[in-house]
Amino acid sequence: MTLSDVTLSELSELAGRYPQARSALLPMLHLIQSAEGHVTNEGVEVCARILGISAAEVSGVATFYTMYKRRPMGEHHVGVCTNTLCAVMGGDLIFERLKGHLDVGNDETTEDGQVTLEHIECNAACDFAPVMTVNWEFFDNQTPESAVELVDKLRAGEMVQATRGATITSWRAAERVIAGFEDGLVDEGPTAAGASLAGLEIAKERGWAAPAYGASSGSDGTAETKEGAAEQADTSRAETETIIEESPAQTSKEDSDD
Ligand code: FES
Repeated sequence: MTLSDVTLSELSELAGRYPQARSALLPMLHLIQSAEGHVTNEGVEVCARILGISAAEVSGVATFYTMYKRRPMGEHHVGVCTNTLCAVMGGDLIFERLKGHLDVGNDETTEDGQVTLEHIECNAACDFAPVMTVNWEFFDNQTPESAVELVDKLRAGEMVQATRGATITSWRAAERVIAGFEDGLVDEGPTAAGASLAGLEIAKERGWAAPAYGASSGSDGTAETKEGAAEQADTSRAETETIIEESPAQTSKEDSDD
């Protein structure tokens, strides 16, 4: 038994946070990772015992989701999105550069134990492609050069700030937060910025608001019926498309294409 009494107690605490204890399995596995560096066999058995389910059921979950690791992780988990949009925007190049620079393959850890490199799927941050993550925090608009600089800083133990998120701590510390134990850094850094907010800014400028479902008011321009709401949404979409077509970014791209 290597899990500490504190961890065992926190695992039980997590199980008690839900009306049905087994709902706590996902955060409990994150806490195991925080304590052990990966999901150990002991961790699987302890979760099963606390939740009153079989070890096979716990293993089924731990091997299904890619955020659960069955091998020891490095101090930092570095993810490179190689899903479609990031790939074409440079994600594949970044991943290849990092593999060579760190001398590791996918899902492998550097000799100094500092970085585990993994190619990851879409992180729903396509508007900042190509995107990387460090311990699940976002690093937007990366290049092969910035990626190398980032991992060098991590390996040197320098302070690194996520583009949208908190100061980087360690993979284990991040796993503890995901498990549901706050570290006080939740408000650090912007959580949304730039491209993600462009549509919101356009809507504010134009005084647009989402029509209430089944709204009957018409005095402020909102739709009076469901059909009217759909029509209004179509009009807004068409206007947005026109704005995007006329945007400076689009214009400059067309200029450079010429
Ligand atoms: S494709 Fe990389 S974040 Fe969506």
